[in-house]
Amino acid sequence: SVIRDISGINEMEESLQRKLGIQKVIIVSGNSDESPWVKTELGRAAANWMKSSLTGENIIAVTGGSTIAAVADRLTPVDTEKSCLFVPARGGIGEEVKNQANLICATMAERTRSKYRVLYVPDQVSRDMYESIIKEPEISEVLQLIKSASMVLHGIGDAITMAERRKTSSEALKEIQGAKAEGEAFGYYFNDNGEVVYKVQTIGLQLQDLSNIPCVIAVAGGETKAKAIAAYMKQAPRSTVFVTDEGAAKRLLEG
Ligand code: G3H
Repeated sequence: SVIRDISGINEMEESLQRKLGIQKVIIVSGNSDESPWVKTELGRAAANWMKSSLTGENIIAVTGGSTIAAVADRLTPVDTEKSCLFVPARGGIGEEVKNQANLICATMAERTRSKYRVLYVPDQVSRDMYESIIKEPEISEVLQLIKSASMVLHGIGDAITMAERRKTSSEALKEIQGAKAEGEAFGYYFNDNGEVVYKVQTIGLQLQDLSNIPCVIAVAGGETKAKAIAAYMKQAPRSTVFVTDEGAAKRLLEG
């Protein structure tokens, strides 16, 4: 639009897309650190992109977090000739209920009038229990759906903020801090070179699965997340479409 041209947002989107080496960047005005409505706008922009990327049959894997919850709130019913099935990307990673992928999947399904499946996995499980859990027919069926996802929708968090928000043990927290983790996505923690320095042990989507998924949408904004975003983007699949705000985008372009 004319307004976006005048404010230079279109130009910023192109520069950032080239800098991050990904498919596309969408920037909304403002800084979500300062104004809560900017997160609502992030949600709206991501929901619109998501809907425009739907094909006939879609399996959509989603992560947790308040940003992806904002996307859920902005979704509207999909065309009746399209079908959507929402699944959580990974099992429990320590988030409180309102930030959990299971709840977000249910909300997305309700708002789009589609279906969802949940993945009930305890947050901290022993190796033995983990091995037996994934053999449960109900669980392995959902895991198959996750592996065949056509779209992934995920958040990106600041590493220490995420570790502190989740039920992270003090040993793990020390490990995450010691390894200078900056960013977090899918329960993986990344240093500023984009290397995985810590990983939450759970089932579901693994980082290496991402490259097989045709449509990957990352949503994260706020100036304070710029370092985290830069860290994650070092290894993000090139097919990623990144929805962010001016606050994060300006910092990312400076850095
Ligand atoms: O994995 C990243 C986090 O889920 C981001 O959480 O959207 O609440 O900042 P947030």
